[in-house]
Amino acid sequence: MNRVPWIDPLAEAAARPLPLTGDVHADVCVVGAGAAGLASAYLLAREGRRVVVLDERGVVCGDTARSTAHLTTWLDDGWARIVRIHGQERAWLAARSHAAAIDRLEAIVLLEEIDCGFERVDGWLCPQPGDDPRRLDDEAAAARQVGFDVEEATHPPVRGLATGRCLRIAHQAQCDPVRLLRGLAAAVERHGGHVYRARAVELGGDGPVRVVVAGERTVEADAVVLTTHAPLTDVHGLEEKQVANRTYAIAATIPAGTVPVALYWDTAEPFHYVRVVRGPDGAADLLVVGGEDHRTGDAGASPGRWDRLETWARERFPMLGDVTHRWSGQVLASLDGLGFIGRVGSRPQVWIATGDSGTGLTHGTIAGMLVADEIAGRGNPWSEVYDPSRLRLRAVGDLSRGALGVAARLGSWLTPGDVAEVEAIRPGHGAVVRRGLRKVAVYRDEDGRVAERSAVCPHRGCIVAWNEAEATWDCPCHGSRFAADGARLAGPAIRGLAPLDDDAAAVPQPGGGLII
Ligand code: FES
Repeated sequence: MNRVPWIDPLAEAAARPLPLTGDVHADVCVVGAGAAGLASAYLLAREGRRVVVLDERGVVCGDTARSTAHLTTWLDDGWARIVRIHGQERAWLAARSHAAAIDRLEAIVLLEEIDCGFERVDGWLCPQPGDDPRRLDDEAAAARQVGFDVEEATHPPVRGLATGRCLRIAHQAQCDPVRLLRGLAAAVERHGGHVYRARAVELGGDGPVRVVVAGERTVEADAVVLTTHAPLTDVHGLEEKQVANRTYAIAATIPAGTVPVALYWDTAEPFHYVRVVRGPDGAADLLVVGGEDHRTGDAGASPGRWDRLETWARERFPMLGDVTHRWSGQVLASLDGLGFIGRVGSRPQVWIATGDSGTGLTHGTIAGMLVADEIAGRGNPWSEVYDPSRLRLRAVGDLSRGALGVAARLGSWLTPGDVAEVEAIRPGHGAVVRRGLRKVAVYRDEDGRVAERSAVCPHRGCIVAWNEAEATWDCPCHGSRFAADGARLAGPAIRGLAPLDDDAAAVPQPGGGLII
């Protein structure tokens, strides 16, 4: 049942962009066709720039399409923490940027007539039972400090979430993320841009940037925008300034109109997030419930996460019918709660956007606005706030979530395997097996056939872990993901898990990202 309500795999396969079959020139080459890539491409194309978008799989194959599309100014870390780390002035700018991103998306949807169900809704922050009431007060005070009009209420409009005082945050929004992406891609093409299915493998060139694509094609452009979710190259130490997390979601039917359409969040750690998708013509609505986040590649990526979400939802929404969908997605959470958007220091014609921190649609739109301004030489008021080279991370005081965590995980070279023998692996499951000095990622398919690959992540040499929920190999260091047979699914690794006869895979590799 692992599927997303807004993704129709057959329709998406039929609508995949064409491959790049020749060398092209462009004003701007955008690598990645998710929220940040398409917002950037659209805003640049609207200004008359010749834009080429490259994505290795297509428009709705990344994590934006798996988003639950809460378009919110309420960041995952909460404004109290953002103000504490960034100071009031920068937090105020960040708050303005997220509000402006929702406004800009709304304007684009209207202007380009994108039928994606965009609608304005309220957001509700509902404390957990037993929360210290001062926490809600702190959040409300911080939100007001950065200019939001939050209202205290005695209870939210859903009885099951009523645990005492809560906050109502007006002027949030929701939409169908896939229809939004499709609409943006179509608008890019209407404004003269092109979207190709192509995988960037190298950046070069002294003047204009040359983007080399797998298959030996090149795109030469005056500017390049890298929006591949996980950066395929380590600039500004970004690999250690953010962590990759898995987040889980389910969708279940509810009778139409029984839950007011709004965004709901609680204060659990990790928190739950809820929204309603209206059914067509009075048919049942869908309740979308998310949470259960954990670090990618850590033990615990299991179907039990979805079961726990369902239990949590049934306790609070007694009208919940059948669970129709369940899926998971990847969040790159920056250590200080804000995305990284800006120029790559060593290459002033190259911009990067990453670290969406759970609000990818707004961070992605901010990236588009910021990059379009900077490429046009206009400057942007948010440049310093999102500067990828920023050092305010020192204020976080918990860097072990990043760099030191990677060092610890490299220690897994020395530990035993998950199981002692391949025979212990059940059909449809995978496990890491120690074989002498090597660690081997072993998958046994439903018919009992065994596939073996090196368990060494080709990015920087951490040992991958089996993800029971998605039947993938996930890397705990920077979140690369691989199919059960070792094929690469998501970077920063740019190759799949190596065959066992590749001796280089027996030792940690020093690099393995996009050459820049
Ligand atoms: Fe960096 Fe695996 S993703 S070592």
